[in-house]
Amino acid sequence: MKRAMIAAAALLAAPAFAGEPDDGQTLEVEGEKFVIQATAPDHMENVDTVYSGWIFRTTETQDLQLDDFDNPSFIFVDQAEDLWNAVDGSEGKACADCHDDVADFAGLKTSLPRVENGELVTMTNLVNECRTERMGAEAWKYSGGQMSAMTALIAHQSRGMAMNVPIDGDAAPFWEAGKEIYYTRVGQLDMACSNCHEDNYSNMIRADHLSQGQTNGFPLYRLKNAKINTTHGRFKGCMSNIRATPYKEGSPEFKALELYVASRGQGLSVETPAVRN
Ligand code: HEC
Ligand code: HEC
Repeated sequence: MKRAMIAAAALLAAPAFAGEPDDGQTLEVEGEKFVIQATAPDHMENVDTVYSGWIFRTTETQDLQLDDFDNPSFIFVDQAEDLWNAVDGSEGKACADCHDDVADFAGLKTSLPRVENGELVTMTNLVNECRTERMGAEAWKYSGGQMSAMTALIAHQSRGMAMNVPIDGDAAPFWEAGKEIYYTRVGQLDMACSNCHEDNYSNMIRADHLSQGQTNGFPLYRLKNAKINTTHGRFKGCMSNIRATPYKEGSPEFKALELYVASRGQGLSVETPAVRN
């Protein structure tokens, strides 16, 4: 495995942590075994194995994900179930009026974002399309509370299923654009996503233990802000941390990046709603 040290090496220290990638940990939630490490897909030239971010968390944080009763995400997932049944908009409809059961969305998270009519479409876009086109309701804010909860509820229906997003055909140009962003250094610290999440995963950065920056657990609960966080929200935070001007949530750049990053998690189980620090 090729793992170059980076310019900002001073920020990083050798690993000294409980959760190391190769110690044979297993993740089982509600009697279901999850794939938390998998052979990297062929398109990943510099990495042999992909790892769930769960592995890199402290035991205390990991434990919160083991039992749905302890997992604080479920407060929000429950709120989304109420939203699912709530009538909204000029057509007087609730999600539940047209979609029999939210469980019918099993598998959707594993294959998103996807291309429709030449555009890259995220789960958030799909939900808002129903709201604006089919319910006559206002779009929800891209990473707002209602949308984060609803996308967590929908993605949760795929829990335990393997990430498997299509990246060829129509999706290829978007995937290439996302890859380009992933490897481009930006911001005052002049760093790319890859410098942390590919070159230095499992190293410490200040007080935090770097993972591969996978998205199989999203939307997920963060202890830091005590709410559900979206992938685009997380991308934004990482860009701000390297003092770059982040792209906007829902922007074409972040959607392409979401596709590319999802493809780096090929084979990992969906953990939604995961818990992170
Ligand atoms: C008036 C009927 C109607 C309402 C109300 C409605 N939808 Fe839809 N929804 C559809 C139709 C039709 C489709 C496209 C066909 C399909 O995939 O089922 C769709 C597609 C979707 C998809 C994409 C499914 C896929 O597999 O591609 C999601 C996710 C979704 N809706 C979520 C919601 C949510 C969440 C709400 C409530 C906020 C909602 N919908 C309200 C009719 C509706
Ligand atoms: C300076 C280092 C650094 C850079 C550069 C960076 N991140 Fe992160 N990122 C972190 C840290 C620290 C965390 C929290 C610990 C962890 O999971 O790695 C994190 C977490 C994440 C997570 C959450 C993983 C999980 O399992 O919860 C994702 C996704 C992510 N980053 C994506 C990105 C993307 C995409 C980029 C490029 C736009 C990027 N990061 C750039 C440091 C960085």
